[in-house]
Amino acid sequence: MSKTILITGAGTGIGRDAAFALAARGHRVIATTFSEAQAVLLREECLQRGQTLQVFKLDITNAAEREMLRPLELDVLINNAALGDSGSLAEVAVERIRSLFEVNLFSTLALTQVALRGMIARERGTILFISSIAGRIPMPFLMPYSMSKFALSAAGAGLRAEMDQLGKNIQIALIEPGAIHTGFNQSMTNNKYAWMAEGSYFSAQADKIKAQESRVFHLLEARSTRSIVAKIIAAAEARRPHLRYVAPWFQGLLVRLARIFGV
Ligand SMILES: NC(=O)c1ccc[n+]([C@@H]2O[C@H](COP(=O)([O-])OP(=O)(O)OC[C@H]3O[C@@H](n4cnc5c(N)ncnc54)[C@H](OP(=O)(O)O)[C@@H]3O)[C@@H](O)[C@H]2O)c1
Repeated sequence: MSKTILITGAGTGIGRDAAFALAARGHRVIATTFSEAQAVLLREECLQRGQTLQVFKLDITNAAEREMLRPLELDVLINNAALGDSGSLAEVAVERIRSLFEVNLFSTLALTQVALRGMIARERGTILFISSIAGRIPMPFLMPYSMSKFALSAAGAGLRAEMDQLGKNIQIALIEPGAIHTGFNQSMTNNKYAWMAEGSYFSAQADKIKAQESRVFHLLEARSTRSIVAKIIAAAEARRPHLRYVAPWFQGLLVRLARIFGV
């Protein structure tokens, strides 16, 4: 059955690919982008592909722009928009962590509350949170991002239990991608090297950390978004989605093993 689905941060990466894949399955997809420039490019891509998406700019940190959701009668909200940041917790400016939480957690939650109002009134709706396997195991030097995803996963699981108790047919699920090559991980890891160059406990190790991070992502990153997009589709279309969807599967397995062995 065709659903009305809104995706945030759909100008690039996983969000954009999920938007086109959901539209190809016959859903009415509202693909929102961080900037107007991304919206223009996405509309052009729609023309090239011969696919229909409803596209507009929605910066989730902007309260007035979040209100644009209110009249939309959404069946599914996919909270995909996020930023990445990194650096040792011993020295990274707390203001940087605060800004990251503003996008990845607080604004995501505020947008969810706007969508929930209509969904609860209509007694129907699904909210997906694109979290991360970085929200399952602490990632040294990526903790600003990792902590924001731990918090988001906790929020999603807690909200799911609350919505179950409310009994208004509101479904909540977490999508937890492993490393996927969209450019997100590279800009997240590189963010810290500018300020680390100006003095850091880890200055002497910066080159080693950089090489290590680049090796790990080169080794782990899936080259395509296909596996995680399939999970997003499954969760968006399910009558009763699971709590968690993880892909690629081997990265999910690594996380399970790491947790079993207490890493
Ligand atoms: N790629 C991975 O390995 C990976 C792994 C685990 C989880 N994830 C999660 O998957 C989701 C998509 O990531 P991706 O890899 O596709 O990276 P991406 O291409 O950077 O996607 C994130 C999108 O969110 C947008 N955004 C940032 N701040 C925003 C705001 N305030 N309002 C609206 N949009 C905003 C970004 O715009 P700009 O490009 O202008 O910043 C970008 O279009 C994110 O939630 C990410 O945390 C990714």
